[in-house]
Amino acid sequence: MNSSNVRLEVMQTIEKTMDEILTKYLKPIETNWQPADLLPDARDENFFEEVREIQALAKDMSYDLFAVLIGDTITEEALPTYEAWLMDIEGVNQYEKKGWSQWVRAWTAEENRHGDLLNKYLYLSGRVNMREMETSTQYLINDGFDLQTGRDPYRSFIYTSFQELATNISHRRVASLSKKTGNHRLAKICGVIAADEARHARAYISFVKHILELDASEMMLAFGDMMKKKIVMPAHCLRETGGEIGSLFAHFSDAAQRTMVYTTHDYIEILESLLVKWDIENITGLNDSAEKARDYVMALPKRLQRISKRMKVPQKEYEFKWFAV
Ligand SMILES: [Fe+2]
Ligand SMILES: [Fe+2]
Repeated sequence: MNSSNVRLEVMQTIEKTMDEILTKYLKPIETNWQPADLLPDARDENFFEEVREIQALAKDMSYDLFAVLIGDTITEEALPTYEAWLMDIEGVNQYEKKGWSQWVRAWTAEENRHGDLLNKYLYLSGRVNMREMETSTQYLINDGFDLQTGRDPYRSFIYTSFQELATNISHRRVASLSKKTGNHRLAKICGVIAADEARHARAYISFVKHILELDASEMMLAFGDMMKKKIVMPAHCLRETGGEIGSLFAHFSDAAQRTMVYTTHDYIEILESLLVKWDIENITGLNDSAEKARDYVMALPKRLQRISKRMKVPQKEYEFKWFAV
């Protein structure tokens, strides 16, 4: 049997437990939070007062931190790209009501609240040039991305495990930095989003764990391959008006490093935590090339630490067009 057929079989085996997966890792819609729970209600008398408070507190946030928040929002808003990619993975059939396609729809439905909530907050904050931000969002969806996973479910679940952990970290950090300047509303907003990301991360990590039990060598090879290629951020094609595809990403990522919202060190820590969670060290029954892939991923954190010591983050803030003049 070739590796593609085995992958389909593995996907079908996991799919049999989809009802359990959905209840374990996703929340019922009726009781789940909605953006409106965290934003002022325009029907209320004190709406404008609350907006004034939002604007006063937004002014107190550092330029870089606000830039990162805008970049995070645009990343969340490019959700159509992520849904389309997940639906196209081998073993996911969007014409089926249940199973993997149900996971993709339900995950998308939860994620969709993130961009909605952040976008509305930024609009109310009075600190953003909304047209510029919206143009970046349209560009990002228009330009798409290449995660280097192909249609492979194994590579894709490595990517999503990694990425949900990364977004958990960055939203969590923005939450705690906002709290420091007394911006409790924004802290709450980023906190609830971070909690969703953590739950999603647990789901994707469990999928990989399950695959390691069923098809260890191929899963290990996929892991090694993704780490060799490096996990790119979903917004790696980010740009602003007048810019080329991807020209803005380095500036966004530098701002995230300067504010410590998401750093190279976090990348390494995510990798280390996944090695432990998947118990990579003790997986048995690997073929020769999978053994080599294991050696590679096990040694990678130390190697990345050495490289990261030599890396310098530019200290000068970049002038994003996203800010109101
Ligand atoms: Fe999200
Ligand atoms: Fe997410």
